[in-house]
Amino acid sequence: MIVTIDGPSGVGKSTVTKALAARLGFECLDTGATYRAVALAMLRRGIALHDHLAIETALTSVRLEMPPGRVLLDGTDVSADIRAPHVSQGASKVAVVAAVRRFLVGVQRAAATGRNMVCEGRDQGTVVFPDAACKFFLVADARVRAERRAAELAAKGRVVSVEDVLADQEERDRRDAERDLAPMKPAADAVIVDTTYLTTDQVIATLEQAVRSCPTDRT
Ligand code: DC
Repeated sequence: MIVTIDGPSGVGKSTVTKALAARLGFECLDTGATYRAVALAMLRRGIALHDHLAIETALTSVRLEMPPGRVLLDGTDVSADIRAPHVSQGASKVAVVAAVRRFLVGVQRAAATGRNMVCEGRDQGTVVFPDAACKFFLVADARVRAERRAAELAAKGRVVSVEDVLADQEERDRRDAERDLAPMKPAADAVIVDTTYLTTDQVIATLEQAVRSCPTDRT
């Protein structure tokens, strides 16, 4: 059974996905990490991220593996490197390239099909797993998302102003929502959950309850 969780950056998808998967005894798939890994691969190869033809050509040499909780690029663990801010922006740039999306949709389907998996991203319910049993789209006020993200970074010892996080977040959200291919949007049958005034525990409980009452005759 596949559960999809889509939504904009900073809405809490990763935390909720991991916790929900743990409660259900499912695995999880962080598809943002796959776009991040491709962006890092291109940056390491010295390819300009506006050069879509060069990206498509270089893609044939990219080796991506997703063992649980980790991302291996060309055989090396890049789980930490893909979280750098310039890789976040890079990921949303390579995500507009048709060849990249084709390649990663294949990687994502191969990783999840036939398994019990919570898949998080932007297009999981619309494009990658349109027949998923249970779909969610998380939303939250942009400033609240930026405040949460800034607090998260501060806890890791990186002080970034809310305004800077907000600017970065708005740029990515705009690119992700306005692209022609697989734009970030809720599937017609997704449950939309506004997390602005909910605690993380409340969001997880809401989703768990919805999954448990989901019809089980779907993928
Ligand atoms: O979820 P994230 O912040 O790790 O995602 C990084 C970027 O990857 C995001 O800005 C857009 C892109 N992405 C996408 O286009 N489709 C997905 N399913 C997941 C991420």
